[in-house]
Amino acid sequence: MTQFTDTELTAAVINSFEKTPDPRVKFLMEELVKSLHDYVRRTDLTFDEWSYAIDFLTRTGQKCTSTRQEFILLSDVLGVSMLVDAVNHRDREGATETTVLGPFYVGEHKAMPHGSDISPNLDGDRMFVRSRVTDLAGKPLAGVPVDVWHADDDGFYDSQKPSYEAQGPSSRARFVTDADGRFYFRTILPCSYPIPTDGPVGEMILQTRRHPMRPAHVHFLVDAPGYEPLITHVFIEGDKYLDSDVVFGVKDDLISKIEKRSDPVMPDGEPASGPWHLMTYEFRMKPGTGTVPQPMMPSTVAA
Ligand code: BEZ
Ligand code: FE
Repeated sequence: MTQFTDTELTAAVINSFEKTPDPRVKFLMEELVKSLHDYVRRTDLTFDEWSYAIDFLTRTGQKCTSTRQEFILLSDVLGVSMLVDAVNHRDREGATETTVLGPFYVGEHKAMPHGSDISPNLDGDRMFVRSRVTDLAGKPLAGVPVDVWHADDDGFYDSQKPSYEAQGPSSRARFVTDADGRFYFRTILPCSYPIPTDGPVGEMILQTRRHPMRPAHVHFLVDAPGYEPLITHVFIEGDKYLDSDVVFGVKDDLISKIEKRSDPVMPDGEPASGPWHLMTYEFRMKPGTGTVPQPMMPSTVAA
């Protein structure tokens, strides 16, 4: 047959994948075609709309550079990234919940001593982060590298700024858990910030009257041998964007109550220079394997 009705067309395209040697590739292609064809049929897509979509995707690709991934951002704001995360972490068995990696992970750094201030030159409310890494039974895991990163006081990550190469990292570090599974450091209380909006994704956010904000959070990547790598954030309770995160990344268990403190001494016995905040969070690791994702923007800057 050379001429198809619209449903016959779907069957014909699916048949065209019949000889695909890899069964998973065959399955993925068939399902993709079914979903795309369904979309066109259900929406009665016009030529103008089809053309706009092609142009949008073209511009999305053109916006990508070695340090900018507009397609991942598109996946994030359409909830696809969190859906992939969800289907791959269906049963946490009590392990800490996961969320998106985001574009601002730059890879590992030289480990810093516990108690270090990772944002020494930034304005903002001071915060002490006290944390521990354990297995599902609460047994401490020692010697585990933990990468942390968050936005600076201006709502940008260090790696987004031209000053990054010259000034080096800020609000970003690696710690290694002690014999009791603990790590702790000083920083500033992060603020909510917008995702990059100077590309097609920003255009879509604007046109659909969404806001581009992410609620305040600190990223953590915990990579313990014998356990699934944990990619997550800890969010700040009370943030006004917790219920409308532009990338849908918030989970209840990842929201931390931040205590306001005025004690003259911080938990590691060192003096406080004024009022400060305390974030306490414990990470529970799930046994398993996995590889830490490659950073989209590997650091060229020494820690
Ligand atoms: C972030 O939290 O760094 C982030 C995540 C997804 C998109 C943009 C930024
Ligand atoms: Fe972030």
